[in-house]
This record gives sequence, C-alpha cells and structure tokens, in this order.
Amino acid sequence: MSLAGKVIVVTGAGQGIGEVYARGLAALGCRTVVADVNAAQGERVVAAIGAAGGEALFAHVDVSSEPSAQALAAAVHARHGAIDGLVNNAAMFGTLEFTPLLSVDLAYLNRVVGVNMLGALVMARACVPYMRAGGAIVNQSSTAAWMHYDYYSLTKLGVNGITCVLARELGPRGIRVNAIAPGPTDTEALRAKVPEDYIKSMVAQMPLARLGTPQDLLKALVFLLSDDAAWVTGLVMNVDGGQWLRA
Ligand code: NAI
Repeated sequence: MSLAGKVIVVTGAGQGIGEVYARGLAALGCRTVVADVNAAQGERVVAAIGAAGGEALFAHVDVSSEPSAQALAAAVHARHGAIDGLVNNAAMFGTLEFTPLLSVDLAYLNRVVGVNMLGALVMARACVPYMRAGGAIVNQSSTAAWMHYDYYSLTKLGVNGITCVLARELGPRGIRVNAIAPGPTDTEALRAKVPEDYIKSMVAQMPLARLGTPQDLLKALVFLLSDDAAWVTGLVMNVDGGQWLRA
C-alpha cells in the first residue's frame, strides 16, 4: 500500500482525526497538505510533521467557500504539479450546537450543511481538475448518517450521497470516491460534545465495546487512498466497532 510521494490534501487537519490522518500520511512519505480554517492549529501540525522528518504544507481553507477551495487547489498545483488524493475530513463537529431538526435556526442549518456536507463537494470540484487517473477522494462520513443526531445526521447522510454520485461521475476519469463512516472516536471534540455517561452507554452496546481511535481510521484511509483499492469506489466503509449492528 505505497503512498510515498503522493500529494494528499487533508481538510480539517488542524486537530483531532484530521491531524492524525495528516501526520500518518506524512510518515508514509506523502507530500501532505494540511488544510484547515484554523491557521494556528494547521501551522502547528505542519511544524510537528516537519520535526518528525515528513513533508507538509499548510493551506488555509474554508471548505464551504468555492473561491477559498479553488485558491487552495491552485496553490497545491503550483507547488506540487498535481493532486493525487483528497481527504474531506473537515466539519463543524467540536463546535456544533445540537438542536432538534424541527427547531434549528435555518441560517445556522445552512451554514452547517455548507461546511459538513457541501464542503466535500466544493473541495472535490476544486481539486478534480488537478487530479489524474489513479487519484482518490475519501470523504469523512459518520455512523450518525443512519442514526438520529439532529441535523448532524442529515449532513453525513448527504456526504454518503455525494460519495455515491461522485463515484459514478468520476469513475470514467479513473478517480475513485469512497467514504469512511467512523463510530464514536476518541477526540477532544467528541469529549467536549458528548457527555461521558452517554459515551459509556453507546460503547457498552457495541460488539467491539470500546471507543475508536483516529489510528483505527487511519488504516482504512490508507487502504482507500492506495492502489490496493484500485477496484473500490462508491463504498461507505464503516469503521465503527460494529456500532451500526446495534443488536
Ligand atoms: P474536530 O472538531 O476536532 O475537527 C474538525 C476540524 O475541521 C477542525 O480542525 C476545524 O478547524 C476544521 N474545520 C471546521 N470547519 C471548517 C471549514 N469551514 N473549513 C476548513 N476546516 C474546517 O472533529 P474530529 O473529532 O476530529 O472529527 C473529524 C471528522 O470526523 C469530522 O468530519 C467529524 O464529523 C467526523 N467524525 C467524528 C467522530 C468522532 O467521534 N470524533 C465520529 C464520526 C465522524
């Protein structure tokens, strides 16, 4: 599963799962682009990758903004000549206000949809012109897509839909599009958002009864980005300790 030398853009790489993705890919020899709306955090990750002997570039981006995504893709192209992989991990998650779908403020809902769902599409549209046959896109979904976490679930179901439609549209160009649907994964954002008792009861119901780690997800990501997954597209891969089975 060699990814050495590949140019991979990871959005939301300033912390949490995205940070582990960026560091892990850089450790495998990727030319990693740490893309985040939070410049201080992104620069911190780039410095850590450099200190570990890896190669990384920080690129500021708001994934919900077409001009911002296009500027990022053009800058990566100018620096590296091509984009081999795009990981759409960014989302409003740690900062999300959980409100029922029936009562959530519509302007706020539009903002969350713009980042969590359409952000993956906006980034794909910006990066695809610089991707060649053999390129791969991996979107970050969630088991929440099939559950009831307010409008957050809706945005992740949308990510699954975008994954399937783009897999169909980009297949003829030799670009694969897949998604990872993590179960509850140990990050600061999860601990900030979800009460400890609720996490415990969720985990207790899972066949593999523990929280996931970003490292668990990284292994799936490496496979989906690599040529070993050359005939895999349109897949939403649960990496969730069996949470989805629920019984
Ligand atoms: P997090 O909240 O720690 O990280 C999100 C990152 O996205 C941050 O670095 C943030 O600055 C960035 N971001 C937010 N809005 C952005 C924008 N408009 N443009 C660019 N970057 C932006 O969350 P965490 O836990 O690391 O989750 C990462 C991804 O995994 C998210 O897509 C989340 O929905 C998904 N996920 C997380 C799970 C968990 O249990 N932690 C479970 C299932 C899915």
